[in-house]
Amino acid sequence: MWTADERHLAVGFDFGTTNSSVAIAGADAQVKLASFPLAGIETQSFRSVLYFEQYKTSEGHKRAHSLTGPAAIEHYLQTDEKGRLVQSLKSHLSSRTLTGTEVFGRRYKLEELISRMLSDLRKHTVNQFGKQIRYAMVGRPVRFVGAETDEDQEFSVARLRAAFALAGFEHVDFEMEPVAAAYTYESTLDHDELILIGDFGGGTSDFSLLRVGPEVRRRGRKPEDLLGNSGVGLAGDAFDARIIRKLVSPALGSDSEARSLNKLLPAVPAWIYANLERWHYLSFLRTNNVREILRSARIRALEPEKIEALIAIVEEDLGYQLHQAVQELKFALSRLDNAEFRFRGAGMDLRIPVTRTKFESWIQEELAAIESAVDTLLQSSGIKPSEIDRVFLTGGSSFVPAVRQIFESRFGADRIRGGNEFTSVAHGLALRAAESLRRG
Ligand SMILES: Nc1ncnc2c1ncn2[C@@H]1O[C@H](COP(=O)(O)OP(=O)(O)OP(=O)(O)O)[C@@H](O)[C@H]1O
Ligand SMILES: [Mg+2]
Repeated sequence: MWTADERHLAVGFDFGTTNSSVAIAGADAQVKLASFPLAGIETQSFRSVLYFEQYKTSEGHKRAHSLTGPAAIEHYLQTDEKGRLVQSLKSHLSSRTLTGTEVFGRRYKLEELISRMLSDLRKHTVNQFGKQIRYAMVGRPVRFVGAETDEDQEFSVARLRAAFALAGFEHVDFEMEPVAAAYTYESTLDHDELILIGDFGGGTSDFSLLRVGPEVRRRGRKPEDLLGNSGVGLAGDAFDARIIRKLVSPALGSDSEARSLNKLLPAVPAWIYANLERWHYLSFLRTNNVREILRSARIRALEPEKIEALIAIVEEDLGYQLHQAVQELKFALSRLDNAEFRFRGAGMDLRIPVTRTKFESWIQEELAAIESAVDTLLQSSGIKPSEIDRVFLTGGSSFVPAVRQIFESRFGADRIRGGNEFTSVAHGLALRAAESLRRG
């Protein structure tokens, strides 16, 4: 049996591809965010990462355990013998081929891996607020990464639901992430508006067009207040992958050739670099097969030092550090017209200047896909840009100027608002949970 308190606890849970957050709305619609310690300071977003490491018991037996969030990253960086660090798990929910993975000789289903993170977040929130949590309003993208059909979408939701059940939630409801962000924006309004929300995360870019405001709330929401949603399964992770492909992989020999029977051929097969683009796949490259390919490539390559650097990246498992360097470049280019990509390690000291224009040319395809999702939403709902009162942009990738530009060119800078980039979805989910509990 649930106590009345448990039944009425409005919990919003945003399990993000890169960052997760949890919020609780009180009876007075005041929202409190769960906070997590990170290097001595409190933060309200929890990195969605999982780290498995092996240790020896006092009897000398090898055992493995896992850590999540900031603790996972700290442990990973501190230990010499690296375990397995995994991230962006949400992006695999639609994949029927990725059922799970083996870590230190044990198989884990994807739902179990995700539930490890959800369970820690839940425990943390329970401790912080001193209340038992059995129910949550959970965010979902409009379109999951890789989902092509309605069945793929349902499959993804079912797996996410299973992960929440494994983490101890007895019941969850789902709400579209951009709709949740709209609740956060709405809480700042003193009049009704027709708004377009754009939420750009690590995995997905999601849009909703809806009417919100105090009058809408007072008269009660109607289905027609939501004019439509659209989404595309790419965002910040896809931008990072482009930086790797265009900047990092060439430094590691992706354009290099090797001599083979008087012909010049690519020194290293392209699929090896494809694994580099998603850094948490890098650990899959530490196999004898890959070692053999790289050893023989180094001997035949016209630029052996580049293959040498690739070998060192793989052997020293520097995927995380490489990815950090990529992120720093991307963040700097959100602020500046020019920045320098810097990476030291694997016998390299890379310093490569990059202009924002260059970066924007690398992500043209992604930007076009985002534009098309926005235009499709406007067309299908029959709304002209001039009818939209405000555009609210949120999520970490909304900091990318080329992403903002898509909206500035359609709606003008004056109509664009932003904010609470990493917490607006959880905050709005808590408000959404409170509303649905009030309605019973
Ligand atoms: N200043 C910045 N400039 C560019 N990108 C940024 C910046 N800050 C964060 N990001 C990117 O934002 C993304 C994370 O954003 P966010 O936390 O909103 O995603 P998420 O909610 O975890 O993902 P999703 O909503 O897709 O599940 C990462 O790809 C990160 O690199
Ligand atoms: Mg998000």
